[in-house]
Amino acid sequence: MRHPRARAHLRALRLPHRWPRRPGRRVDLLLRALLRGGRRRHAARPRAGVVIPRAGALADRRVLLTGASSGVGRAAVPLLAAEGARLALVARRADALRAMVAERGIDALVIEADLGDRDQARRAVRDAVAHLGGLDVLVSNAGAAVFGHLREVHPDDFDRTVAVTFTGAVDVVREALPHLRERHGTIVATGSLMSRLPLPSWSSYAAAKHALRGFLTSVAIEERSQGSGVRIAMVHPGPIDTPLFAQASSATGRTPRVPPDAYRADVVAKALVACAIRPRREIVLGGETRAVELLHRLAPAVGERVLLGIDRWYRSGTESAPVPGSLWGVRDRSARVSGDIPARDSLLAWVQLGRRLAPAPATPWVLARNLGVVGVRAARLVGVLRSPRSECPVPGHPARDGLAAPDSR
Ligand SMILES: NC(=O)c1ccc[n+]([C@@H]2O[C@H](COP(=O)([O-])OP(=O)(O)OC[C@H]3O[C@@H](n4cnc5c(N)ncnc54)[C@H](OP(=O)(O)O)[C@@H]3O)[C@@H](O)[C@H]2O)c1
Repeated sequence: MRHPRARAHLRALRLPHRWPRRPGRRVDLLLRALLRGGRRRHAARPRAGVVIPRAGALADRRVLLTGASSGVGRAAVPLLAAEGARLALVARRADALRAMVAERGIDALVIEADLGDRDQARRAVRDAVAHLGGLDVLVSNAGAAVFGHLREVHPDDFDRTVAVTFTGAVDVVREALPHLRERHGTIVATGSLMSRLPLPSWSSYAAAKHALRGFLTSVAIEERSQGSGVRIAMVHPGPIDTPLFAQASSATGRTPRVPPDAYRADVVAKALVACAIRPRREIVLGGETRAVELLHRLAPAVGERVLLGIDRWYRSGTESAPVPGSLWGVRDRSARVSGDIPARDSLLAWVQLGRRLAPAPATPWVLARNLGVVGVRAARLVGVLRSPRSECPVPGHPARDGLAAPDSR
């Protein structure tokens, strides 16, 4: 609908400019408009007991977001609230999450749950559904990782990464699906470039993300075959400026060297919101991410050399890793959006997902600066990047005891 007056009328009726594809959603929108009397609602003071529908593209949609306490999830909370969503937020750091929503005046249910535990994952969904009275959108975003080569990573840490990042997401989706079917709802998942590419030093994480992609793609087809109306979207970003790297459990005893260029967490959060509003099956987010993926697909030998360089970059970190990291429990009670990684907007994401992802005007300069820094650092680290750092196999590794899982070791 291009005509500005027509758009203004639709805005006044809080109808979208483009019709949703699903007939159920169209009927829903028309009914809502009729119930509103087809008139613009004036900003009158609400009478006691009268619930005024929220404005925004997700107005009164009931949204469950996992991994809401830090990084991308934390950045997504105010964006979802601004779109009028009614929120249930899941993480282990419930206190940090409660403090954040209280500070911002966001009305949300905070659910404390460890998604590596099936019972807790299922309970989280049940609590959210009971509180919200149903579910329209699930944003599956929680993830965790262990850093190190296969021979360094303890098998329990490997399994735990998969349990949180993959199995936890499966448990949440399984429990949420019947409720989403009732509402022809949407699942949006934070994937990763590692859903589509390998990444040495993060093999358990890459395995979990590949599995998540395979799982969700299969379920999307199942839902289609059942005509359930449930739609599934995945957003695959490259490196993001979040605390994930700094708080990942490390099997090498050192933190991975931070990436020299990353996307801001709110870029990915905006992409999740855009997909919650209008689901797209898979979005490989950003130009850099797409370039790396394409390189790997079209010239695998060159792509693998790039991944080898990335691996050596990560392994050239010199700072001691927090022991035992956040894989098994909460180590840092405070929670933040940023991980102090040089970050920027994406230059390409707005082409993929629309104006809400328009980059800040300074983005090309920030990108140029970051790439300049990469060049200088790579030149300084040339010796390290040429020769691999030797592995510290699991048995006898000095950091192993400190990495022990609370119960299982
Ligand atoms: N950072 C990157 O470079 C990058 C790149 C591509 C994709 N991603 C993906 O982006 C998503 C968000 O990660 P992020 O980068 O924002 O990292 P983050 O800041 O570490 O956030 C991870 C979130 O997951 C939650 N979480 C971790 N373990 C959990 C558990 N056992 N049970 C429940 N919640 C748990 C954390 O909350 P609590 O600790 O409070 O439980 C936190 O809210 C993840 O799916 C990640 O794989 C990240």
